[in-house]
Order: sequence, then structure tokens, then C-alpha cells
Amino acid sequence: MSSGKKSELSHLMWTEKYRPMKLEEIVNQKEIVKGISNLVKSPDIPHMLFSGPAGVGKTTAALCIAREILGEEWKKNTLELNASDERGIKMVRERVKEFAASVKLATDKDFDKPKIIILDEADEMTSEAQTALRRIIEDSSRTTRFIIICNYLSQIIEPIQSRCVVFRFTRLPKDNVVEQLKYICEKEKVKYEDKAIVQIYESTGGDLRHCINVMQAASGMGSINAANVSTAIGLSGRSKVGDVLKLALAGKFHEARAKLLELTQVYGMSESDFLKYASQEAYDMKLDRPEEFSELMAEYDYRLSAGAHPEIQLAALLAQIGRLGSKKS
Ligand SMILES: Nc1ncnc2c1ncn2[C@@H]1O[C@H](COP(=O)(O)OP(=O)(O)OP(=O)(O)O)[C@@H](O)[C@H]1O
Ligand SMILES: [Mg+2]
Repeated sequence: MSSGKKSELSHLMWTEKYRPMKLEEIVNQKEIVKGISNLVKSPDIPHMLFSGPAGVGKTTAALCIAREILGEEWKKNTLELNASDERGIKMVRERVKEFAASVKLATDKDFDKPKIIILDEADEMTSEAQTALRRIIEDSSRTTRFIIICNYLSQIIEPIQSRCVVFRFTRLPKDNVVEQLKYICEKEKVKYEDKAIVQIYESTGGDLRHCINVMQAASGMGSINAANVSTAIGLSGRSKVGDVLKLALAGKFHEARAKLLELTQVYGMSESDFLKYASQEAYDMKLDRPEEFSELMAEYDYRLSAGAHPEIQLAALLAQIGRLGSKKS
């Protein structure tokens, strides 16, 4: 996808549209924002390490820091890397080297400012890769500052932790999430029910990105009411249906059942929707015995429509899928 197209699309996403541009606009995380604001004013900015759960403002804070330190030219002097999705530490080393050494323009008045490297999902790196990263940080620290982001601080090797100022981001509390979601509804002129907003919060446990995405999906169905929110949550759980099938086929009955319960109870997916999505998934998975699978699905579809207890029936279905999986030649 070209970057032009990407930014066009990202503008349509509320998560991007309402991503804070300045540190003081970040919801909650007050102590962190205060700490960071002081650090970015200091003449010698340290490397930073952010940890915490998904969707609470880590990447947002890193981008705000880059803007605050580098001003208008921030984009040119900031490198965003994802440690997990590219070609490992070699790529990181090459990109960092190239970036740190890139010549500054004669017109660049901010030549005394460091370049900033935001390294997301660093806890996906092996400890060997992190050791190499530590060297890279040291070698380039004359000209660059790192903001390293992870979900689990315990997965980051100590020598990296000790070279950074560490900020632990926390889950956003209910009141903050609810307030932000209502703010977005008002800006977007979308009608909402208070109850439905709370339902969004409760289904996602303080992951504001997930909340905003669910809310945007629900708004596409009209307004933010309980029924639309349930449907939107069900849609977002759909991607997990394949996981349930794979676990069941591998004979991991208990894990498959736990995931299935998560889908029905947390994501609000109905049992009959589960069957529907599972049939589609199974088709895409190109099973060894598609006809047997189809017969199974039809049988359980019938049982559910006849009013049998859905939880018991679906557990039995998973057990049968497991038997089907073990027959594999
Ligand atoms: N503290 C916050 N204040 C305001 N908006 C937020 C906050 N946290 C998250 N958001 C919203 O959620 C979106 C995603 O946030 P962000 O990218 O900062 O999450 P993250 O903590 O980096 O999560 P991940 O670990 O999944 O990368 C933002 O674009 C913004 O719309
Ligand atoms: Mg992030």
C-alpha cells in the first residue's frame, strides 16, 4: 500500500483521528506524562523504555515526544521500527545506522537535536537480538535517542532496562475510557446510550484502541446502542473462531472450550453465529475430510435450532472435531 493511500485510510479510522498530538492531551497516565514532559525539556534527553498493556497510549506518547523535541521537522528525524514484523536485528542495525548517519540538510536549524528511533514490540526480540540492540544503542547514542516499547518489561534484558528511563503504562480506568468515548461520539455527532458505552469498556478491559474500534463499528450500524455494540463485539471476535477450530482439531479440548467460552461470553457471539463462522473458516482451512466436517456442523446446527442447551452442544461438537482431527492420515 502506498503511504498516500495509507494516510487517507487512517484518517477514516477514529483511533487515528483521535490520537492525541500533544503529551497533555493524553488521557490519564498523569504521572508518566509529567515525568516525560520534564525529561524532554532537559538538555540531555535519555533513552526511554515504555511498558504496558495494549491500547493505553505508549506509541502515542512516543510520537508526541518526537513532535515535542523535533518540532515541525519531526517526521524526517524520527524512525519508527517494529521489532517483530521485519527481518530481525540485522534490519534494525542497518536501518538505524543508515538513519543515524543520514546527512542533515544545510537548512536544518535543529541540527543539534537528536534523531529519534521508536522501536515498537521490542519484547518480541530474542535476548541475543536484544544484546545486539544494546550495542546499536551505544554506538549511535551520540546522535540518536531510542524510545523502546514493549508489553512486558520482564521480557527486556536488564542491560537495556538500565540504559533507559522506564515508564510503566497502566490500564485506563473506566471513567477515563467512558469520557473519551463520549467525547468522540459528540465530535462525530453519533447518538449513544450511556449503558452501551459502559458495555464497550467492559468487553475490552481498558484497551482504548479496541474500545474505539468497536464503537466505530457499532456507529456504522446507526447509533451506539446495546444491540449494535453486541454485534460489533461479535464481529471483532470473529477472527478467533479459526483458533478454536485449530485447537479442537489438535485434540486440545479444554483450551478450545475455554476460547469458545471467551467468544460467547466476552465477545457476545451467539452460538449459531459461531457455527456459521466455523463453517466458513473450515472451508478456508482446506481440511482433510471436509464432508465429515460439514455433516457435523449441520447436525449441531439442527440441535441448536431444536432448542438443545448451546453450551453443552458446542462442547460436544469440539470433542467430535477433535476425533475428526485425530483420524488424519
Ligand atoms: N491514553 C490515551 N489517551 C488518548 N487516546 C488513547 C490513549 N491510549 C490509547 N488511545 C487511543 O488508542 C489508539 C492506540 O493507542 P496507542 O497506539 O498509543 O496504543 P499502545 O499503548 O501503543 O498499544 P499497543 O501496545 O497495542 O501498541 C490511539 O490512536 C488513541 O486513539
Ligand atoms: Mg503501540
